[in-house]
Amino acid sequence: MQPIYLDHAATSFPKPPTVGARMREYVDQVGANLNRGSYAAAQQTGLVTLRLRERLCELFNFPWMTHVVLTPGNTWGLNLLLRGLLRPGDHCLVSAVEHNAVMRPLTQLARNGVTFDRIPCDSTGRLLVDWVEPLLRYNTRLVLLTHASNVTGAVHDVQAVGRICRIYGVPLALDAAQTAGHLPVDFAALGLSALSVPGHKGLLGPQGIGALLLRPDLAEMLVPTVSGGTGSVSDSEQVPEYLPDRFEPGTPNLPGIFGWEAALAYLQKTTVQAVHAHDRTLSQRLLDGLRAVPGVVMYGPDTVDNRVGVFSLDFPGKDNAEVAAALEERFGILSRCGLHCAPNAHRTIGTFPRGTVRLSLGWYTTAREIDRAIEAVGKISAE
Ligand code: ALA
Repeated sequence: MQPIYLDHAATSFPKPPTVGARMREYVDQVGANLNRGSYAAAQQTGLVTLRLRERLCELFNFPWMTHVVLTPGNTWGLNLLLRGLLRPGDHCLVSAVEHNAVMRPLTQLARNGVTFDRIPCDSTGRLLVDWVEPLLRYNTRLVLLTHASNVTGAVHDVQAVGRICRIYGVPLALDAAQTAGHLPVDFAALGLSALSVPGHKGLLGPQGIGALLLRPDLAEMLVPTVSGGTGSVSDSEQVPEYLPDRFEPGTPNLPGIFGWEAALAYLQKTTVQAVHAHDRTLSQRLLDGLRAVPGVVMYGPDTVDNRVGVFSLDFPGKDNAEVAAALEERFGILSRCGLHCAPNAHRTIGTFPRGTVRLSLGWYTTAREIDRAIEAVGKISAE
């Protein structure tokens, strides 16, 4: 039985074939560190890293290439932002459906005098924008939102929040874990001060790499949370003042850089618009198919507007973990069940603590796979 991979919200699979090839090329043939040597292989490493930063600027309409900070992943980038910026006495606003990559650092900071509020969301997981303004305080230092819920797929109206943040002069940061590569994300048009992305989801790269894009005025306020050698200003024991070195200590994930650069080359050639159109077509097919299945409750927006291809299902009267196991064992369908590291998202939609079975789509998902998933859900639900 051919497996049907419907867990792209956790990580995309497969990757474009050039990704593994470029990683192998780096490991087997290049091998040099970044910013340390001046021989040809070291220069090649430098050029690929530069090209990766350029591609990220192009994809996200971000003008400051020096302020593309490569991170070991999205969680790391979000931690740098929160821990590097927030001080005792500061207040932070987040949505009610944040992932623990935001909530765990924030609750740790809250033990040291940082406060936060959650902007309520509706029962589909979409932000209630009217709540943003009343929740802002004189000491609100940051508004940080997930772009789309990793539980329901609902995409927030970030542009509207950006307009409010600009009026009050509060930086707006976006966690684009579920949207980067799936739909166009325009740093300038959304009015962002920071954007954190993982490499391994919609951006089709390997695990263990991501990027934090910082407006220069916000970058100036950030304190590095990890420091070390950068291969630059080696006469000083102080952390460099300039970016990206200030926030990129140590040897980076170079196989990851080579692989991610190849993934973005593929994505740029394919275009994010084409991925988005594919996502919408398959999401419509899944929505139509599942709507016709009795005994399944579907969460999230019930149209393809303002959503990505992430679907949470509940099977009343059944154990969702057993449903996910049956999907795999009997139909080869790979899903993710439980709370998806976002307990408050489940509280918001009313599925805490039992969680849901999540199906999530990606660029390599086919219409036939969607049909097989609908059929499998129908059979399980009828039992
Ligand atoms: N945050 C990822 C998910 O939603 C891992 O599955």
